[in-house]
Amino acid sequence: MIHIDESLCTGCGLCKKVCSYGNGNIEIDGKAYMLSQYCQECGQCIEVCPKEAITWNYPWGWTKEQFEEAVTAWNRILETAGENLSLAAVYHRKSVRHYQKKAIEEMKMQQILAAGQSAPTASNERELKLIVVEQEREELLRFLIDAYRNWMKEHTEEEILDFFGGHAVYVQKWKRFIKEYEEDGKDGVLFGAPAIVMAAGEEKHLLDAGIVAQTMLMAAQSVGLSTCYVGFLRKGTLISEEFRTYLGLKGEERVLAGFVMGYAGISYQRDAIKHPFEVIRK
Ligand SMILES: Cc1cc2nc3c(=O)[nH]c(=O)nc-3n(C[C@H](O)[C@H](O)[C@H](O)COP(=O)(O)O)c2cc1C
Ligand code: SF4
Ligand code: SF4
Repeated sequence: MIHIDESLCTGCGLCKKVCSYGNGNIEIDGKAYMLSQYCQECGQCIEVCPKEAITWNYPWGWTKEQFEEAVTAWNRILETAGENLSLAAVYHRKSVRHYQKKAIEEMKMQQILAAGQSAPTASNERELKLIVVEQEREELLRFLIDAYRNWMKEHTEEEILDFFGGHAVYVQKWKRFIKEYEEDGKDGVLFGAPAIVMAAGEEKHLLDAGIVAQTMLMAAQSVGLSTCYVGFLRKGTLISEEFRTYLGLKGEERVLAGFVMGYAGISYQRDAIKHPFEVIRK
């Protein structure tokens, strides 16, 4: 979990804005405070706070000592990027959920697509489609919202919860996305990003699609763009034939990996440590 130091907080609201759980987690009433216990310990609020008012309290069930030791080791590794811009791009990437309206330059888009094309695939089976939506982003959003709205109308609360892997917070999120879109056209799901990039194909190419998407994502980072994976793009193609048809998918083809991309609309002051994976070395 995080800790907010009221004495430092100015109530600017940036932490609420970036919270990966969206509205309803951090609230501002002169000062920031935690409204719910939904915290996926992503550290984004810590990364943007201009007053350093937010600190870890400690995440992942770790003790203060364990945590501080990990932070020291992590910071030491981050410094090794030095002049290596590729490594710096990898180390400093984050999932960005606020974008400028600015379009992406054609040359950068070509470079990002070329990065995707240069990725490896198992047995060199190159059976993926890359879909980029820029001009029709509003249409894409409408198809996506319609897909979820129609599907949720036709299913029980239990089935919906099951579809979202038992995460009630995603069910709440989708109810809110639909409501806000209907009320004032608000785009909570694609974060107003100017480009949406997807790798699509049959389910057996899921890993290939993940590799291709991540290669494009890192290329985007290297040319100064930000990104955020949106798993709901994939799920949208699982539940709606209209959405699949709109995207030009045929037969068993689905979106396998999708992300939004653009110039960040928010600036990050620092990097928060990520939960380390277990590493086994022999
Ligand atoms: C496959 C995948 C799907 C994701 N889908 C979403 C999504 O639909 N919406 C969202 O806000 N973040 C999504 N994320 C981002 C993660 O929730 C989360 O923000 C990230 O792991 C935190 O790390 P970062 O801040 O270092 O990027 C997704 C990430 C992955 C890898
Ligand atoms: S970002 Fe920092 S200063 Fe701004 S509201 Fe949140 S805790 Fe307060
Ligand atoms: S750590 Fe992430 S999920 Fe938790 S409050 Fe901060 S921004 Fe929200």
